[in-house]
Amino acid sequence: MDEYQSEKAAELLLKWYDLNKRELPWRQDKDPYRIWISEIMLQQTRVEAVIEYYKRFIKELPDLKALAEISDERLLKLWEGLGYYSRARNLKKAAIEIVENYAGKLPASYKDLLTLSGIGPYTAGAIASIAFDIRRPAVDGNVLRVMSRVLGSDRDISKQATVNDIYDCLSVAMPANRPGDFNQALMELGAVVCLPNGGPRCDNCPIARLCQAFIEGNPEKYPVKSPKKPRKIEEKTVFIIEYDGRYLLHKRPDIGLLAAMWEFPNVPGTLSAKRLPDALQKYGLHIWTLVGQKFAKHLFTHVEWHMTGFFVRTQNISHCTEDYRWMSLDEIEQSAAVPSAFCPFMENIWTMCK
Ligand code: ADE
Repeated sequence: MDEYQSEKAAELLLKWYDLNKRELPWRQDKDPYRIWISEIMLQQTRVEAVIEYYKRFIKELPDLKALAEISDERLLKLWEGLGYYSRARNLKKAAIEIVENYAGKLPASYKDLLTLSGIGPYTAGAIASIAFDIRRPAVDGNVLRVMSRVLGSDRDISKQATVNDIYDCLSVAMPANRPGDFNQALMELGAVVCLPNGGPRCDNCPIARLCQAFIEGNPEKYPVKSPKKPRKIEEKTVFIIEYDGRYLLHKRPDIGLLAAMWEFPNVPGTLSAKRLPDALQKYGLHIWTLVGQKFAKHLFTHVEWHMTGFFVRTQNISHCTEDYRWMSLDEIEQSAAVPSAFCPFMENIWTMCK
């Protein structure tokens, strides 16, 4: 694409964006704090899923100071269900860094933004351009797909060198004014028009005539992406133990996967029902009845949990070390952040209680 064509593409793209952009809560103003929160939430999570979380988060934590001061427990609860919880922990960490080093205001500099916890090139580019009108690209998965098609590039987008080259190409192509709208227009095009997996809607694309993949007549040839390593499968046996309307929950360690979240007690491997007495004895339970059983799967980025859940009702309790707690459903709902992996079991409890 020559200079004339890339200027034309930017102009067409911005015009299209002005007419077609979705009204989203973080597009109502250019408050850097709000842009930051939305961009972190939008990583690995769909726009539709983010909207309600975003509104609730901003209502409870309307500014950076409130975020820097929130308790870890409450923060995890606010993030419950969004997944990738290190994003939430990094948000608070970065908020504290900003209070300490930047007088509580997000720095209006791409390089300074990059030094903050949880902020990489994509997020720094998005905040710098959208909130501060700084000319920096924001290259996410949607933008990589759009650009591979526009350029007709068959380079592997899972390689960092490809991402860097697309970044450089966009740094040149970005218009001097409206860099934030330009980045968002590319993201938006990727999200609603230049779709993956059988879905490109080239008829609705403002830059189809400038797009190499469209000209070649085969947009789906792009992007080229090397296959991911298959996820590792981990089998688990999960115990959903009820005593008088309360459930035994275990707090996960403060580091590692799903750090500090509350889960139903579980052990590695798939136990058969006849090994339940031994397993439950470890929680100090002797008199109990098995009231149900359910299988559930949960996919993380690199692992897949295959869980066999045993629903047990007990008549004695003794086990209650610091990491274990008997909680009512109200308490769980109010204060314990439970990973989505356990939702299939929570659903059964809710139905049983109705
Ligand atoms: N995905 C990532 N950032 C976005 C934004 N600002 N608007 C819509 N979708 C996005």
